[in-house]
Amino acid sequence: MSTLISNRIEPFRKTITVPGDKSISHRAIMFGSLAKGITMIEGFLPGADCLSTIACFKKLGIQVEQTSPTSVRVKGESIKGLKAPNTVLDVGNSGTTIRLMMGILAGTSFTSTLEGDASIGKRPMDRVVNPLRLMGAKISGREDGKFTPLTIEGSSLKGITYESPVSSAQVKSAILLAGLSAEGKTTVLEPALSRDHTERMLGAFGVDVERLTNGASISGGQHLTATRITVPGDISSAAFFLAASLMVPGSILSIENVGLNPTRTGIIDVFKAMGAEIKVTNLRESSGEPIGTITITCNELKGVEIGGDLIPRLIDEIPIIAVVATQAKGKTIIRDAAELKVKETNRITTTANELRKLGAQVVETEDGLIIDGPTPLRGGVCDSHGDHRIGMAMAIAGLATDEPVTINNAEAIQVSFPGFYDLLKQL
Ligand code: S3P
Repeated sequence: MSTLISNRIEPFRKTITVPGDKSISHRAIMFGSLAKGITMIEGFLPGADCLSTIACFKKLGIQVEQTSPTSVRVKGESIKGLKAPNTVLDVGNSGTTIRLMMGILAGTSFTSTLEGDASIGKRPMDRVVNPLRLMGAKISGREDGKFTPLTIEGSSLKGITYESPVSSAQVKSAILLAGLSAEGKTTVLEPALSRDHTERMLGAFGVDVERLTNGASISGGQHLTATRITVPGDISSAAFFLAASLMVPGSILSIENVGLNPTRTGIIDVFKAMGAEIKVTNLRESSGEPIGTITITCNELKGVEIGGDLIPRLIDEIPIIAVVATQAKGKTIIRDAAELKVKETNRITTTANELRKLGAQVVETEDGLIIDGPTPLRGGVCDSHGDHRIGMAMAIAGLATDEPVTINNAEAIQVSFPGFYDLLKQL
């Protein structure tokens, strides 16, 4: 077990960058593996989750070479070029890896088995298994395929129109990827648009994806053509440092090269509503994704209400929003976020419990959190519970406490943000 200790810091002025986007890094490896030819990836996130994706595609016979920690060369063989693995495909802690791979593996001509760590073993897989079965997929698993391990017997698929009960990019992407191997057209509709990296990146690989207000359609039988992908900095990682600047009033922080995809920028809207001054500059496009520099400063924070269609645009940022909310004047109410219960941990419970250890006023609700502030936080001993975003959120909380905050099981942070501690030390 590794431990991280975080301390109060003085106001800072800094310009930083953050590691590559996790969602985009996964997709670059996967789509590069499905494309014919050599895909070069720059800015790749060498976090544990994305390394699990690489390991899985190597087991499927794809040549993937990391020429540096952040540069990857993938020699794809087309979808039909994937080979039967001779061991179980281990996704580690990665929900994106397992769910997107289910969609890819459903239409192959071989059988494969997917499993992951204890957290993956508790997360619902039926949200992907059910629509894939409607397409003709043959999937078996614990509790009729609700949980891992899952065995997928590749079969011929047919296109469907699926109205997903949840706004989930993992569900949407799995169905669209299965749709590539299916006969006819596949359409996914969701209650509110989730992150659209799959749609954008398939476009960069030459696949025609029809964009809908709340979903997307794809026609089967299309081929991916290898390309060059530059991965932007992860706005979900940047969020912890934006929050750091808000926890230490008087700080000014710029983060360069951050992905600014509108399906991911809810955090900017929320921090602005809380009173932060945020400027986006040097806005440009890279591999079909908007990127730019975010500059943030703030003196006084106020509570906000967050819910509805905004939730999918900041779903991974709720633990860190809760931390910042402890320092905001008034109530912050987060609702419509029941999806947090099926993340790496139940993030409603883990966020509330860990913040309370530091004296925060937090109430857990059915679908969110209510945080009252401002509350002076105190030091203490927290636990990541194996959840990278909980570990980082508590480390940022420690920047505003008089006594240190100790975070146990801090190694979980490697999942999405290698170098987090070193960057924190720079502040
Ligand atoms: C992801 C989608 C989201 C997000 C996760 C990454 C993706 O999950 O929470 O960190 O890369 O597609 P859901 O699809 O379950 O909402």
